[in-house]
Amino acid sequence: MIANYTLRCSGCKTPAPRSEQPCAACGDLLEFSLEAPNVRREEAREYAAEVLARRTSLDALDRSGVWRWRELLPSIPRAAVVTLAEGNVPLYDVPQLAEELGIRNLSLLHLGMNPTGSFKDLGMTVAISAAHAAGASSAICASTGNTASSMAAYAARANMTAYAMVPRAKIAAAKLAQMRDYGAQLLEVDGSFDDALATLLGRENEAAVVNSINPYRIEGQKCAAFIMLEARAWNVPDWVVVPGGNLGNSSALGKGFREALALGLIERLPRIAVVQAQGAAPFVAVLDRGGELIPVAAQTRASAIAIGSPKSWRKARAELEACKGVAIAVSDDEIDDAKATIGGAGIGCEPASAATLAGIRRLRSSGTIATDAEVVAVLTGHVLKDGEASLRVADRRDASR
Ligand code: F0G
Repeated sequence: MIANYTLRCSGCKTPAPRSEQPCAACGDLLEFSLEAPNVRREEAREYAAEVLARRTSLDALDRSGVWRWRELLPSIPRAAVVTLAEGNVPLYDVPQLAEELGIRNLSLLHLGMNPTGSFKDLGMTVAISAAHAAGASSAICASTGNTASSMAAYAARANMTAYAMVPRAKIAAAKLAQMRDYGAQLLEVDGSFDDALATLLGRENEAAVVNSINPYRIEGQKCAAFIMLEARAWNVPDWVVVPGGNLGNSSALGKGFREALALGLIERLPRIAVVQAQGAAPFVAVLDRGGELIPVAAQTRASAIAIGSPKSWRKARAELEACKGVAIAVSDDEIDDAKATIGGAGIGCEPASAATLAGIRRLRSSGTIATDAEVVAVLTGHVLKDGEASLRVADRRDASR
């Protein structure tokens, strides 16, 4: 199956010559846009079967849940690809939880089961490979911990220096330990994630910026949609629920589903629900109110999504418009309760990921998610990413027994 992509602005659609900087015409984020494909359904089925068969291959690219879909990714010379066999993640059925929620089916796509323990690896393998192919010697990102850990691992594999700009004392200890383990150079910022990202922007010429404003990141992360659909034998769920911070992941999932539809792999789009923490929910506010996003001073115990000025909000809004999606906010206590439930099911995740279940509970009580719905929640980070949170949540659960 041949798919053609053009690098262009996600806002004004002007073609862009290179990926490093935002659109020269309007300043918006770039994207790899799929040219209107002309595929037969038969051809799409054959492609899906071929990609599935690659799971048994011994080829390094085939062993990656991202590079298995390489025909749908920007082309990068094979020798430059930096992979850690990411993307081979489970989709866990949780029937008891589905019954409690009163829905037909609930499953958890656990992207925390990636090599560095978060969904970031899906995008990072593509971003670091592209930087490596272009001859970059260093990479940089602002991060609440997971992006920097992922960057540090992939950069180390490519002999690149990794610079991690993190908000001082505001990220989980395990994440800080992990990025240092992979040899990242720490650039701690007094302030928030948003301050760190603002400091970093404009330094694109010094090192490869691998935050999700980098269009290669989105291409890798969109594979989460393919991985999920493949695991469901291409049966489209009614709802896909995802936590929202900088909104790169929501944008990537939406893009993945739209491309699967355009390529004839599926016949309809799932609706996406983006869940933000109440103290960091500027996207929920802008969808309610309209107009431009108004940044907030983010305040939430779910440190991964403590983001007040999400850079991909326009892309995410367009994706929600395309799939009739919604965005909602949940409280930190609701997130903790949901984390206790996911842990109690023997699965576990970090707080930001548990926001999904908190969101599903809300959307069930409001009737937005109907009783016959099939729902997939995207768990973005591993339980071991935030031990402090696990102890707090377990203490709270034990105290209420
Ligand atoms: N879940 C986890 C575990 C995260 O680490 C993040 C973002 C998100 C959800 C939100 O994803 O930003 O694409 O909307 N973490 C980034 C980081 C900001 O630096 O690790 P998003």
